[in-house]
Amino acid sequence: MKALVVYSTKTKNTLKLAEALYDTLRYDKELKLITDNPDPEDYGFIAAGFWVKDGKPDPATMEFLPKIRDGQEVFLFATHASARDSGPIRNAMKVAKELAKKGRIVGTFGCQGGISPEMMEKIAAKDKKPAWFADAPAAKGHPDEKDVAELVHLINTICI
Ligand SMILES: Cc1cc2nc3c(=O)[nH]c(=O)nc-3n(C[C@H](O)[C@H](O)[C@H](O)COP(=O)(O)O)c2cc1C
Repeated sequence: MKALVVYSTKTKNTLKLAEALYDTLRYDKELKLITDNPDPEDYGFIAAGFWVKDGKPDPATMEFLPKIRDGQEVFLFATHASARDSGPIRNAMKVAKELAKKGRIVGTFGCQGGISPEMMEKIAAKDKKPAWFADAPAAKGHPDEKDVAELVHLINTICI
């Protein structure tokens, strides 16, 4: 099966997951940035990685996911500052699943991703901080080795 690992990233957290996922896949595979505009039609398996922005998948991913067609296998992965399995993150993944609903979702994975020091400073200076910012200190250093190992294990379980 031909596989595409496509990802969106600003500060490379999601890239880290995308590379680990790509290295793990045993399919005939390609790794592409979402801004390369890959045509999902060419692939039977699509792993799409996004970063969470304002409670949703980032805008480029929101545009990409509806292009997925009937029967294509889809694995969704994400990084975010909020704690794993928190309500807003479950919701962001729900939005992604809904957008990719023409495909067959075979799995999902999400983990925290640290904020750049510049962005931390910028948001800390604001009067009104987003709710997810409270989790930003705990997101520091993620994705870490344990996050990556968990993703690799999951992929090895799904793609046998
Ligand atoms: C403008 C902006 C908005 C963000 N919104 C959220 C959010 O709503 N929820 C959240 O958990 N994290 C949020 N984050 C944190 C990022 O999702 C997180 O740091 C992610 O790992 C970044 O991925 P990247 O390094 O691949 O760009 C936001 C970050 C930025 C810069």
